[in-house]
Amino acid sequence: MADFVNGFWNMYVIVIVLVSILACAVLLYIQGKAKFTPGKTMGHVWDDTLEEYNNPMPKWWSWMFIITVVFGLVYLVLFPGLGALPGVLGWSSVGQYKIERARMDEAVQPLFQKYEAMPIPAVAADKQAMEMGKRLYLTYCMQCHGADARGAKGFPNLTDGDWLYGGEPDQLKQTIAEGRMGVMPPHAQLGADTIKDLANYVRAMSGLPNDAVRAAKGKEAFTSAGCIGCHGPDGKGNLAIGAPNLTDNVWLYGSSEATIIQTITDGRQNKMPAWKAFLGDAKIQLLAAYVYSLSHQGK
Ligand code: HEC
Ligand code: HEC
Repeated sequence: MADFVNGFWNMYVIVIVLVSILACAVLLYIQGKAKFTPGKTMGHVWDDTLEEYNNPMPKWWSWMFIITVVFGLVYLVLFPGLGALPGVLGWSSVGQYKIERARMDEAVQPLFQKYEAMPIPAVAADKQAMEMGKRLYLTYCMQCHGADARGAKGFPNLTDGDWLYGGEPDQLKQTIAEGRMGVMPPHAQLGADTIKDLANYVRAMSGLPNDAVRAAKGKEAFTSAGCIGCHGPDGKGNLAIGAPNLTDNVWLYGSSEATIIQTITDGRQNKMPAWKAFLGDAKIQLLAAYVYSLSHQGK
């Protein structure tokens, strides 16, 4: 529909369109009535041989004009085009889109239903389902997790079998449907020295080079500062709140001492959007199966 803010512009457009068409018709009529003198030159000559005659327009040309005028009028009666008038057929591009959408939905509905009834590992093993899943992934997920799903700083790798929230079918479905919010609180109050100790302990847990004296102090602070509440007494993480395993050398933000110090000092907050309302259960099923397949390749 037109977005005119008031009726004036609507009328303005209607008048311009109708006057233009009318002017064409009048011009045709006048040309049809004009007096011609076929075969006689008007006495004007250009470039030695180019002479001006007073011949009528060719018939086929006049007819093209008449057909154009009639077509324009018929079109404007049937379809939207004259100001904001909808046209007697009621056609609209939105309506056309809805019809095509509905036709498409009807065609894929049985497929969706079939996959929804299947367990995720079986869907993940279905070639056609995984083609659909991949297309959905590339449309909705790639911007953050990457085309190859290997993630980036702050965006988890979905192919490595290491999970913040778990890689079992129900956990994946919940992650995608409801979204997730990872919150690592800031710990600046511990002081730079203790934070450096903690960073060395975190690196020690992953088998990375570290200052052993600091790491030993960091180990104590890990308990006394409450890190164990979320990351667990052995630092292996907690799927329920998305606290990462700190012992596996897989990093969401980075393993350098400076980065870890920054993570502990300022904290981190990270959000995976919820897709339930936007995509619906059937597409989430396919996406969960696709993500499942990424980390179970060859298994
Ligand atoms: C706007 C960016 C963004 C988009 C788009 C996005 N994600 Fe995420 N996703 C994230 C972030 C950030 C996290 C990590 C959340 C956290 O650290 O708590 C995440 C986490 C996940 C996890 C959990 C990983 C784990 O280790 O447990 C899965 C699975 C996932 N996303 C799948 C998807 C799928 C499938 C889509 C497409 C429908 C998608 N994501 C789209 C940002 C995004
Ligand atoms: C309230 C729970 C909670 C507490 C307490 C907590 N963490 Fe975290 N931590 C998290 C969560 C959740 C994340 C992941 C944040 C995200 O998804 O963006 C995280 C992330 C991290 C990371 C980043 C890991 C990576 O892969 O880049 C490090 C390092 C870390 N925490 C160390 C610590 C240390 C050391 C302490 C104690 C001073 C601590 N955390 C206390 C919940 C917690």
